[in-house]
Amino acid sequence: MSDPVDATTTSAWAELTALHADFHPDLRSWFADDPERVQRMSLTLADLHVDLSKSLVTSEIVAALVKLAEQTGVAERFQAMLAGAHLNTSEDRAVLHTALRRPPGVEPALDVDGQHVDEDVQGVLDKMTAFADRVRSGEWAGATGKQVKHVVNIGIGGSDLGPVMVYDALEPYADAGIAARFVSNIDPTDIAQTTADLDPETTLFIVASKTFTTLETLTNARLARDWLQSGLVASGAIADDDDAKTDAVAHHFVAVSTALDKVEAFGIDPQNAFGFWDWVGGRYSVDSAIGLSLAIALGPEAFRELLAGFHAVDEHVATTPLEKNVPVLMGLLNVWYSNFLGAQSHAVLPYAQQLSRFPAYLQQLTMESNGKSVRWDGTPVTTDTAEIFWGEPGTNGQHAFYQLIHQGTRLIPADFIAFVNPAYPLTDGGRDVHGLFLANFLAQTKALAFGKTAEEVEVEGTTGALVAARTFPGNRPTTSIFADALTPRVLGELVALYEHITFTQGTVWGINSFDQWGVELGKQLALQIAPAIEGDDDAVAQQDASTRALLEYYHAHRTP
Ligand code: F6P
Repeated sequence: MSDPVDATTTSAWAELTALHADFHPDLRSWFADDPERVQRMSLTLADLHVDLSKSLVTSEIVAALVKLAEQTGVAERFQAMLAGAHLNTSEDRAVLHTALRRPPGVEPALDVDGQHVDEDVQGVLDKMTAFADRVRSGEWAGATGKQVKHVVNIGIGGSDLGPVMVYDALEPYADAGIAARFVSNIDPTDIAQTTADLDPETTLFIVASKTFTTLETLTNARLARDWLQSGLVASGAIADDDDAKTDAVAHHFVAVSTALDKVEAFGIDPQNAFGFWDWVGGRYSVDSAIGLSLAIALGPEAFRELLAGFHAVDEHVATTPLEKNVPVLMGLLNVWYSNFLGAQSHAVLPYAQQLSRFPAYLQQLTMESNGKSVRWDGTPVTTDTAEIFWGEPGTNGQHAFYQLIHQGTRLIPADFIAFVNPAYPLTDGGRDVHGLFLANFLAQTKALAFGKTAEEVEVEGTTGALVAARTFPGNRPTTSIFADALTPRVLGELVALYEHITFTQGTVWGINSFDQWGVELGKQLALQIAPAIEGDDDAVAQQDASTRALLEYYHAHRTP
């Protein structure tokens, strides 16, 4: 892997610095003076209509940003990723989540590091489809012959957030009478509450873990196994002996992992395990076998449609010139906002209740990928990196934190995501409620862009100090992403869009967006501190003063 280009030493960066020195954002006059702005800055990405016109950039800035992408090798690095280059240098791995959504039979076939990638991907997809069909039809039944009614995915991070987000988004597609639930937290409340009203006889657990070593997931999997076996025994559904209990696990547990040997050691039949590969990062894995709960609850067809949406965006990225390449442009805008305008966070505001977990999903995708201070050659980064991604669905957010976006002192670029047609078209006294909802989306992006001047406030009769309080500065940048409806395909497109935005930013900053060493220290220390929690005095003594004091509090207040 060639050394990263230091973006700050490029001529494009110098140009951007000069443009910034003379930057007087004024969306009102930019719109008034340039009737072509909206058309020029509205782009199509597969089924998504993306309006960048309310971004805080001029044409000169966009041109300089595109030059920055050229000078930092964004297009070449995309091609290298698609071809299987080991972009994940710290783990010496290819980065091939895009291979998970290549349609069957695409030519030329992708062979990487001696692996027939396409064949393997299609093989697992076929296995998932066959299994999902069996569960959905009732051919696969629980230990007592009853049909599965709930599938519970046990995983965390990338082995949880993607499936949860997609299931919430596409629940209207769940058509087989099987509901999905998700357990992630090692807080025992999570599994206790999730299983409280479930019937062991009709529950199927999927243990999803890339490494099959994750403390939370393996702990929850053991708790689930105990819950299943003791529940079946207690109700008299199975005999209280080892054979019956082992048989119950075989009927009620399957696994998804890259470590199939560890799956077997846990007691899950390797026949009931679905593999993927180390070239799929956890946060890029929802389109791998990690999506098994989705294939079961939503159906294999919906799952393949989701993959088709991802692929459509991969095609766009691979074949569209940088100046029209939507993920690249959105990534570059984020670089402009972060590195030149000082934005520290980025809001994602879906006008779709079904996307309520989308911001949380994006937090792992963007922040675990680009929250780094060193570049892929081990040298320090030369500029600020990843912004904090956050958000909530509209209109709830409007009544909570939008105040700060409109009138606060910080610049917060925001992506608004909306759909023309709702999943539930309800009316209120003859009025289309979804239309009212969308009016809010349009109103917010308009208010953020154009604000309200003191003169406009005064014309309404306001005087004195209240004028300033009621004035909106405007020039708060937004991107509007609009689509017909939230279908599996459209959702795949949305997720792939953000994957490639993340990639673009990572490349400009010289970051390996595919490792996550920053989560390791906490994991190691938790294992060291666990004995101290259990009362081991030596382990307590090894801790720092603050940790010791907190342990003391814990032991003093613990209910015996
Ligand atoms: O701790 C971070 C992480 O490694 C994520 O990157 C990953 O998605 C998550 O843990 C879960 O890991 P696994 O799928 O191996 O259980």
